[in-house]
Amino acid sequence: MEHLPNVAIIELGSQYTLLIERTLRELGVRSVILSPARAASWLKKNPVRAVILSGGASSVYETDAPQPPDEVLSLRRDDGEPVAVLGICYGMQWLAHRLGGEVKAVLGQREYGEAFVTLVPRGLMEMATGLFVGTPERQSVWMSHGDSVVSLPHGFSALARSDAQTIVAMEKGHLRGVQFHPEVTHTPHGKTLLTNFLRFAGCEKDWRPVAVVASIQEKVTARLGNERAIFGFSGGVDSTTVSAILASVLKERLLAVTIDGGHLREGEIDEIRNHAIAAKVNLRVIDARQEFAEVMAEVIDAEEKRRRFKKVYTALFVKAAQDFGATVVLQGTLAPDRIESGATGGAVIKSHHNVGLDMGTLLQLHPIDHLFKYEIRALAKEIGLPESVSNRQPFPGPGLFLRVVGVSATPDNLDLVRWADARVREILVRCGIWSELSQLVVAYIGVNTVGVKGDARVYGGAIVVRAIKTIDFMTADGVHFSDAVEDEISAVLTRHPEIVRVWYDPTKKPPATTEME
Ligand code: XMP
Repeated sequence: MEHLPNVAIIELGSQYTLLIERTLRELGVRSVILSPARAASWLKKNPVRAVILSGGASSVYETDAPQPPDEVLSLRRDDGEPVAVLGICYGMQWLAHRLGGEVKAVLGQREYGEAFVTLVPRGLMEMATGLFVGTPERQSVWMSHGDSVVSLPHGFSALARSDAQTIVAMEKGHLRGVQFHPEVTHTPHGKTLLTNFLRFAGCEKDWRPVAVVASIQEKVTARLGNERAIFGFSGGVDSTTVSAILASVLKERLLAVTIDGGHLREGEIDEIRNHAIAAKVNLRVIDARQEFAEVMAEVIDAEEKRRRFKKVYTALFVKAAQDFGATVVLQGTLAPDRIESGATGGAVIKSHHNVGLDMGTLLQLHPIDHLFKYEIRALAKEIGLPESVSNRQPFPGPGLFLRVVGVSATPDNLDLVRWADARVREILVRCGIWSELSQLVVAYIGVNTVGVKGDARVYGGAIVVRAIKTIDFMTADGVHFSDAVEDEISAVLTRHPEIVRVWYDPTKKPPATTEME
């Protein structure tokens, strides 16, 4: 269970990419989602057995259309066999275009929603061995495409056509494409098609939640012996899930520790306590607001803030370990953190607080460093943790310290941004938008601007409201709120005497990052 996934999904701009991952997981197979930019280096270091090219909204002939690396066409498995590739929708069009076929928008072939496809003689032959094994000659599928493959690349065969005569499935050796979406439930035989693909790609079942839980427990108990361990507990999905998994075997020998440095959101300590109760782990909350206030006074530079936070946090944590008699620290490092921190030559964009901590003689264990965030969320649900855990948005370790920008994060400024964050969150929950967001960032920008309130001049700071949607946090789309939502947020926040304006920041990542600092 310790290996990385055997299937790579290259995300080419589809809203269904996570659904592909989830559907494969339901079929018992793990997968990693990669952006095109990251795919080549990942695939070089981590062999896979299958590659799935997702759908996407672009047209392959546009200059800025997403491009999977060419290497995917000729990857080899450990045993020398070619790595099977399945292009879905845009992914199929990319395969066709890249290999010399023709893709274009054909008015009469645009299909949205349910469509019927019929296997052609070559597809009927495939029914014995290939993609369509166990599915009927004529079947309903779900489509959403403006472009179509109008001429196949050399050596490819069409396997099926829709009633509009669109080529909806093609094949040549280890390369296959489908124009429809097998990952959605509206394609009734979609799971069968994906199962067939996984079978001839040689992907064995490697996702069994019970086995994942057992392997985490074994890994830690084997290293721990009779010693005690502590764990930095944020109440987030990673730390709560790992605590729940380990508390049941380590019992009194595990202590979850939360450091309150004044950087947490409104109501967060209560939420952390509730999540510790849900995980059945003993929790110690250390009130370190005074220490952090002293150290953070006068600091404005983002990296200096992070350095100081890390230093104080680590010292408090090591002390907590000593108090508890622990010799082991459990870390919630995930697979992407491990891979990325192993990469050489990349620029340091931000020094995340939980990566590379110097904990002296304490042994650091990383029991979930072969898993991805979406797998941890699935595991949280599997082991019965509440949705407030499994769906919780990420929040950075240094918390609100990163959300006071341009002035020092004094306790007063932290209170201000804490208040603003809570009000924005309330509005977004009420409007039903909250659950659609990957992350909300509310920051206080300490640049004074002039405003007028009740006929008087005011001179105060601004709040930036930023929300993003993303799969892997490596790239993200900024969210544009409706006028009504923006008006409500602005009206509520400017009731605060020190807030003069509200700015909205939907900048994509890149070039911006999720956090302001
Ligand atoms: P960026 O700003 O790099 O953030 O786009 C990507 C994700 O990482 C979170 N983040 C952190 N998480 N410690 C953490 O635990 C940190 O120091 C840190 N900095 C950023 C950020 O909130 C987003 O979810």
